[in-house]
Amino acid sequence: MSNKQFTEQEINPLNSLDEWEEAVVERYPEPDVTAKSKEEYRNYSDPARDTVREFYRLNHTYQTYDFVQEKKADYLRFNKKEMPVWQAFDFLNQLVDDSDPDTDLDQFQHLLQTSETIRQDGHPDWMVLTGLMHDMGKVLCLFGEPQWAVVGDTFPVGCGYSDKVVYPEYFKDNPDYNDPRFNTQLGVYEKGCGLRNVHMSWGHDEYVYQMMKDHLPEEGLYMLRFHSFYAWHREGEFDYLLDDHDREMLKWVKLFNPYDLYSKTPVPPDWKALKPYYEDLVAKYLPDTIKF
Ligand SMILES: [Fe+2]
Ligand SMILES: [Fe+2]
Repeated sequence: MSNKQFTEQEINPLNSLDEWEEAVVERYPEPDVTAKSKEEYRNYSDPARDTVREFYRLNHTYQTYDFVQEKKADYLRFNKKEMPVWQAFDFLNQLVDDSDPDTDLDQFQHLLQTSETIRQDGHPDWMVLTGLMHDMGKVLCLFGEPQWAVVGDTFPVGCGYSDKVVYPEYFKDNPDYNDPRFNTQLGVYEKGCGLRNVHMSWGHDEYVYQMMKDHLPEEGLYMLRFHSFYAWHREGEFDYLLDDHDREMLKWVKLFNPYDLYSKTPVPPDWKALKPYYEDLVAKYLPDTIKF
């Protein structure tokens, strides 16, 4: 049971949530960017690296199997708030963080840029909507969740860790590391059981998947649920947990990832012009209100 009270430093180790995503882009740079812009990515000051490192230390230490069960039992009741979809974007945008002057995009801009880039490439409309919704789970922060229980690379809990998850050394501080129920390769799972039977570390991916699971096709749901599972979709780890359906869906998760990481555009999309399209899109697939 997690009666532990976290300090402000433990709740918000990052200056903003975007710091995590910037660190992911640094780890997985866009293949065709020039050497010069790669160099710019490396110009992070050491303090920024330290906050990301501290973020992962907390994430790896406290995301236990029991922690995940508690968060699911709480949030998957969806009894916290209910609001019209378009109001939900305003709610999410309360996350905008003015302590970080380099982060000029609000959450909605990131969602819109992701969805617009998907649309420009001619993908189906449900994938455009997936792009628009994919980070809605970050509202967890607004319910008081620590940053490390909202963002960060996700990983299976209840079984052995992978050293392909960034900063794997911090898993030694997780109580599950020494728990014989959890510290074998398969832990509580059966070989080939499929990711649907695996509990992932808690965060915005699982939460938005559960929010959207009756409204998007399976491929879009995989994009939502596993978009931060880099150890799987970028590193090919945890094959022994997968079933054939996961292997089939992996290509969709991989298709989505570059739109999330590399769709930041210097000129923001013209929301006024795009609004009618998105209003129709949301009305086509989603109910009138979203429950949190
Ligand atoms: Fe995300
Ligand atoms: Fe994102």
